[in-house]
Amino acid sequence: MTIYEIITKKKHNVELSTEEINWVVAGYVSGSIPDYQMSALLMAICFCSLSDRETTDLTMAMARSGDMIKPETGGFNVDKHSTGGVGDKTTLIVAPIVAACGVYVPKMSGRGLGHTGGTIDKLESIPGFKTEIPFEKFVDNVKKSGLSVAGQTGSLVPADKKIYALRNATATVDSIPLICSSIMSKKLATGADGIVLDVKVGDGAFMKNYEDAEKLAEAMVRVGKLAGRKCVAVITDMEKPLGRAVGNSLEVIEAIEALKGKAPSDLMEVSLVLAAEMLYVAGKGNAEECRKMAEEAVSSGKALAKLREMIEIQGGNPEVINDYTIFAQPERSKDIYALEDGYISSISCEKTGLISLKLGAGRETKESDIDFTAGIIFEKTVGDKVSKGDKLATLYTSTNCDIEAISDEFSAVFTYNNEKNYSEKIVKKVIKGY
Ligand code: URA
Repeated sequence: MTIYEIITKKKHNVELSTEEINWVVAGYVSGSIPDYQMSALLMAICFCSLSDRETTDLTMAMARSGDMIKPETGGFNVDKHSTGGVGDKTTLIVAPIVAACGVYVPKMSGRGLGHTGGTIDKLESIPGFKTEIPFEKFVDNVKKSGLSVAGQTGSLVPADKKIYALRNATATVDSIPLICSSIMSKKLATGADGIVLDVKVGDGAFMKNYEDAEKLAEAMVRVGKLAGRKCVAVITDMEKPLGRAVGNSLEVIEAIEALKGKAPSDLMEVSLVLAAEMLYVAGKGNAEECRKMAEEAVSSGKALAKLREMIEIQGGNPEVINDYTIFAQPERSKDIYALEDGYISSISCEKTGLISLKLGAGRETKESDIDFTAGIIFEKTVGDKVSKGDKLATLYTSTNCDIEAISDEFSAVFTYNNEKNYSEKIVKKVIKGY
C-alpha cells in the first residue's frame, strides 16, 4: 500500500478500503505521510467525495487517533454540537435546561476562531470562571450538578487538529464528508450516549444553502448511528445573527436573560427545540412531553438555578446572574442608525461576525487575545420596519480599534426593502437517526 496509489484511486473515484483509510490517518498523524500528499488526497476527496462507509471509516480512524474518553457519570450523557454561527449562545441556555430536567450534560467545547464565537471564550468572560479543569473534576461536577462545560483535555483527536489545519491552508474545508468526519470524530471521542447536532444554514454558516446543510446533517446522523450513538440533527437558520447580542459577555447576558424567559423569539425557539431533542434522545418522554419539560425548566427558574450552580462550581462569580455590572464593562460604544426608510430585509451574518472580530470579540489567529466586552447589540432585526435615523444597533469595544471606520463598515450589513418579506421559520428540519 502506498499513499501514491491511494491518491490515484480516489482521483479516479474508486472507493478506499477500511484498511487504506486507517493507514492514511495513522500515517499522517505519525508524520510518515507528508502534507503535500495528504493535501492531494483531501483535494481528490473534495472532487470525488466519500461513500457513507468511507466517511464512517474516516470518522472512526480520526476519533481513535488520540484518547477516547468516557465521562463515567453513571447516567445517560447527552452532548450538543453547533456547526458554528454568529450570536450562537444556545449551549449556555440548553445545557442548564437539560440538566435541570435530570439529564447529564458533560460538554467539552472549543474556543472561537474567525467570525464565529466559541462557548469557552463566552464563559471565560464571567469573572473567575474556569474552563480548564482536570477530567476527573469535570466528571465529578456533572455527577454533582448535572452539567459542566469545559475546554478539551488530553490528546483528543490529533488527526482532526492536523487535518483541519491543512484543510484551512489548502481550500479543502468545504467538503461534506470531511466536515462530517471532523465534527463527528470529536463527538465520538468524547463518549456521549446521545448527540444533538445544530446544523446552521445561511450566509453566516459553513453551509450556505439548504441542500448542503441537509446532506451534512444526514451524513452526521448516519455516522452517529453506525457508531452506536443516538443522534439527531436540527437544521436551523443562520441568515441573520441569532438573538440580539454578538460578543462574549454580551452573549452570556443574553443567555441569562433567556433563562429568565426574556429571550428574542428566534433564540428561544432554537434553544427549546435543541433542549427538547436532547431530552428525547435521553428517553425522557415523547416529543410533546420533552418540549413541555424544557419550557417548564425555564418558567420555573430551575434552569437559571442550574446555570448559577455551574458558574459557582467552576469558580465564577454567580452574582453575575443578578448584576450584569460584575462583567468587565466596555470602554467605548457607538450607536448605529438606519440609512433608509423601509423594512430590514437582511443582516449579513458573516459581515457581522467580521465586524465583531474587528471590535476585539474574536480571534484572527489562535494566539490572539480577546476583548470580552467587545461586540454588538442589535435593537432592530430582519423584518422590522424602520425610518431613516432610527437606532439599529450599538457597537462596543475596549480595544483601540478604529470604531468610526468600523461603524461605517457596519452600516453595510443591513439591507432594506419596501415590503416585509421575511420568513420567521428558524428551525427548518429535524432529522432523527434512530
Ligand atoms: N467544524 C469542525 O469542527 N470541522 C469542520 O470541518 C467544519 C466545522
